[in-house]
Amino acid sequence: MRKIDKIFSQRKLIPLDLYLEKILYDKNIGYYEKKNPFGVDGDYITAPNISNIFCEMIAVWLVSFWENLKKPKNLNFVELGPGNGDFCLVLLKALKNFPEASDSINIFLYEKSARLRKIQRKRINSKKVFWIKNLKKINKDPVVFFGNEFLDALPIKQFKKINRNIFEKYVGIKKNKPNFIFKKAIKKQINKLKNFHLLKNDGIIEYPEYGFKELQVVCEKINKLNGGALFIDYGYKIGKNIDTLQSIKNHKFNEINKNIGNADITSLVNFGLYKEYFESKNLLTESIINQSEFLQKMGILERAKMVGRKMNYIDKKNLNSRLRRLIHPEMMGKNFKVIFTKNKKCNFSLAFK
Ligand SMILES: C[S@@+](CC[C@H](N)C(=O)[O-])C[C@H]1O[C@@H](n2cnc3c(N)ncnc32)[C@H](O)[C@@H]1O
Repeated sequence: MRKIDKIFSQRKLIPLDLYLEKILYDKNIGYYEKKNPFGVDGDYITAPNISNIFCEMIAVWLVSFWENLKKPKNLNFVELGPGNGDFCLVLLKALKNFPEASDSINIFLYEKSARLRKIQRKRINSKKVFWIKNLKKINKDPVVFFGNEFLDALPIKQFKKINRNIFEKYVGIKKNKPNFIFKKAIKKQINKLKNFHLLKNDGIIEYPEYGFKELQVVCEKINKLNGGALFIDYGYKIGKNIDTLQSIKNHKFNEINKNIGNADITSLVNFGLYKEYFESKNLLTESIINQSEFLQKMGILERAKMVGRKMNYIDKKNLNSRLRRLIHPEMMGKNFKVIFTKNKKCNFSLAFK
């Protein structure tokens, strides 16, 4: 039996999110278990891969949050989906400039892919860094979660609404290729959609059930221990009821049913929906802002100037083109958004006011 057939061996059709979970993370055929997708030799490049100064802005944001929390003796910082570890390496370096905060902050890496965990362990060698498989292990002291391009990597469900009828997308195999079909949605699923403002218009409705499951623990911990969560990703504030699934291979768009297990598949993040979700969990969510605004409010232009002063012409040009990529509205500046949610008693709002 071919590996891809195994995921359908017991059922002819499986819901879209289960299918995505298998082809992205399955031990045998999952994309993230097969290759290191990051960088020029991989399939895509993320902000931490683009420039250290992006990571430094998050480091400064974290230290400020720690100060706002009245410098707790211990603060848990959890990176969700740390990828190849680039962000964590810069964070560790940046924290050295803030020794008091550095002594108090412990870093936890939460990574689903065994292959990526191995890469991270090889690259990151610090007594401050711990890998955790279960977020429930964080039991005391305030906690700050951070995920860059974490939400887009979580499998989604898709529904189609036509008048009052709702159908769910399932996947089967036809002529050796994945075949997508819609089946009438069950009542339990429809009721979940009704908890949010998702059913106003006809068209495709995307619902991150996996994402909500992961974030449930995140919200519980923020409520119980104090702190917050910062997410950066590509996406939109108000949905257009369209299919946003996309596949990428070698830095180019790939047809969604080709190169299964050898190409990444993601979706655009519905930030408005996540805001609703966080509010339903009793958290306070700041406004959703663009990456460009966030980074500029955090002082990325000043930092680039400072770093550039010591550089030769070629390095400076390189730095400026990376900076442009991060903040230009036609590059990552506008499509990438930032959401910050926090415990209701917390008044930290750096960059969001
Ligand atoms: C698009 S990559 C982003 C990596 C990194 N944050 C960056 O910006 O370079 C998504 C990351 O999330 C991880 N991931 C996806 N689903 C996860 C889950 N449920 N739990 C933990 N990690 C997950 C992936 O394995 C990968 O490391």
